[in-house]
Amino acid sequence: MRSANAEARVFVHTGNHEFHLTNGQVSYIVRINDQGKALQLYYGAAVEDRDDFGYLVEMQRRSTASCPIEGNLFYSLEHLRQEFPEYGTTDYRMPAISVLQANGSRITDFRFAGYHVDNGKPKLEGLPSAYVDEDREAVTLSIELADDLTGLTVNLMYTLFADTPVMTRSVAVRNNGNAAVDIERLMSLSLDLPDDDYVFTQLTGSWARERSVVRDHLHPGIQQIGSLRGSASSHIHNPAVALARPDATESCGEVIGAALVYSGNFEAHVEVDPFAVSRLQMGIADFGFTWHLEPGADFQSPEVAFAYSSQGYNGMSHAFHDLVHRHIVRKQWRDRESPVLINNWEATYFDFDEDKLVAIASKAQKMGVELFVLDDGWFGERSNDKAGLGDWSANLKRLPHGLKGLAQRVNDLGMMFGLWFEPEMVNKNSDLYRAHPDWMLSTPGRNASHGRNEYVLNFANSQVVDNIYEQMHAVLSSANIGYIKWDMNRYITEAFDITRGAEHQGEVFHRYILGVYALHERLLKAFPDLIIEGCASGGGRFDLGMLCYSPQIWASDDTDAVERMSIQYGTSMFYPLSSIGSHVSIVPNHQTGREVSLNTRTNVAMFGTFGYELDPAALSEQELAQVSKDIAFFKKHREMIHKGDFYRLVSPFNKNPRHNDSMAWMVVSSDRRSAIVGDYRMLEHPMSPFTRLYLQGLDPTTRYRVTVRGGASTIDGMVFSGEELMRIGMLSTDASASSSAEAGGVNNLGDPHDFDSRLFVLEAC
Ligand code: GLA
Repeated sequence: MRSANAEARVFVHTGNHEFHLTNGQVSYIVRINDQGKALQLYYGAAVEDRDDFGYLVEMQRRSTASCPIEGNLFYSLEHLRQEFPEYGTTDYRMPAISVLQANGSRITDFRFAGYHVDNGKPKLEGLPSAYVDEDREAVTLSIELADDLTGLTVNLMYTLFADTPVMTRSVAVRNNGNAAVDIERLMSLSLDLPDDDYVFTQLTGSWARERSVVRDHLHPGIQQIGSLRGSASSHIHNPAVALARPDATESCGEVIGAALVYSGNFEAHVEVDPFAVSRLQMGIADFGFTWHLEPGADFQSPEVAFAYSSQGYNGMSHAFHDLVHRHIVRKQWRDRESPVLINNWEATYFDFDEDKLVAIASKAQKMGVELFVLDDGWFGERSNDKAGLGDWSANLKRLPHGLKGLAQRVNDLGMMFGLWFEPEMVNKNSDLYRAHPDWMLSTPGRNASHGRNEYVLNFANSQVVDNIYEQMHAVLSSANIGYIKWDMNRYITEAFDITRGAEHQGEVFHRYILGVYALHERLLKAFPDLIIEGCASGGGRFDLGMLCYSPQIWASDDTDAVERMSIQYGTSMFYPLSSIGSHVSIVPNHQTGREVSLNTRTNVAMFGTFGYELDPAALSEQELAQVSKDIAFFKKHREMIHKGDFYRLVSPFNKNPRHNDSMAWMVVSSDRRSAIVGDYRMLEHPMSPFTRLYLQGLDPTTRYRVTVRGGASTIDGMVFSGEELMRIGMLSTDASASSSAEAGGVNNLGDPHDFDSRLFVLEAC
């Protein structure tokens, strides 16, 4: 999919106002018609340019159509595939924009007003966005549309990257008129596809059960997901969707993926019209949203990144993984290896002091851990979750030498020191709340609901953001802190911004998230080398917006390895392994009570950032020795795991009996000389079929020696060509299952193999 020397370009045919963006992998073709409307002609695999793609504008006289041109019964916007549809001028589908004007009208009529093409990609003001290092890495087409009556203009900005089949689109509205208007709906992406033979694929779930892959065939009407939870893109729906051809699999078939670079309220929907056109839209959720736009003011939408793959879901994932690695994650962390960490949360919860923490760090360091993270409870009066949020200074009763003293002791062990914050929240029992009760988001005269005993600070108020910035800046300057875990543990209720008037109340959710982004920007400007690990009660804010600041995000509070298989599998659809925060925790697991072997817990956590969330004192000597070996193994392969090509092989969501209730994935190094296959069993079933895994991404002519880690296999030590492993498949039936059955007699199938796993390590020889 990748091509280092590829070029992204825009063919502009000025005579017929056609724009063809292509990079040799994808093509996106837009045409401005005689009425000045921007039409979508094609999006998909790259096609050669031609002077005129006008034949793709399909029109027919259709009864009941409303038609804007007098005497013309053929031309109706209802029947045209458009780039920026509006409601009320003959198109009845959901629009990309809706603007309430002074006279109460919402009708607009945006028409072509100009364009320009630039190399590179501009940053979006105040919002996270994909970036390029050099102009040759992307090309950007801006199409300007104007509505004469209101004086509003719209800038549709399309960027195509040279090295990956990914585009971004965003929309900026400017009020060049004389009267204020209210934007009520503005979709970042609106893409009309010519048919509806697609499977809508979404990542859905809940706290501790994030990002399950759910697929449904499109049907007439609207299929929609979204979030109205304010402070986060949410555990419930991820702001990323795919439209796949029904025959698409992980490894073949056409898939279009789209992900919003945004962390607040969002909607993503597909509307299938009576003529089987599918309109995919993504943007800020319009429910409750308005943006008051005075004359002379601008509003910038977030951007959507979207990718086309002809190589199935894995191909789509590779496009997004490349995007994240090269154009989303900040340069400072893009090319570095993220450290193996240990976090004290599940080891101690709120019950710790300095010596206990240092004991954990010291044992962890001996096992090879590189970063010690102090989680919740180090600040203010925080001895439980009812107090302290908002008071970001060390609790000297627990940490008598302050953070500086603790960080020094951790550093002296040869480890980095990291710290937990929840900057956006406040407890009523805090000095911050007592001094500024009006900084909490709440509606005058109404009850203020809490979540986890906490309240949300009004990040739409820059004074609040300034205060938290100063507190965090002081902490980060006071000790050698290389990492922070930025948590956010509740959604917004009773949203109201008391610093603004009635006409601005529809802005509060967007302004809140802009405040969150602004705080990230300021902190990273002051501490450019800081690693921020995003978190929101686990994986409640896992999106491309946060990844612009946090190279890694804690994927879920559920650390159970079996649950994690599904969570990490789903997350990998759009987000690379280097971004997926994953730790080995103790058993019985704190969320599910399940007992899973250390081997399997490790084999799952390794396909992510990798770390531990336990007290090493709870491990036996034998386990400690195993952990040291595991960490050494991970470090040896870390670059491949984080930056190589990741392939999902067998889905935990697909209960095909042929797969024996299992799950498998693999990662291949960029030079294709090594690979690791993770093969996981859920529940053991007697008399199961023999299994084999069809590997992917290997070099067909290279010969690979297979060694098995953490289990037995008949192919351990054997050598195969990449071609054999991909075409014939790699036999993955567990050798130990048959040998123990032999030992146990006819009716005994041996020890249960529930939750077993193995890694197959492939090295070119
Ligand atoms: C959230 C996080 C956890 C932990 C706790 C601390 O639930 O997701 O990892 O940090 O908060 O309160």
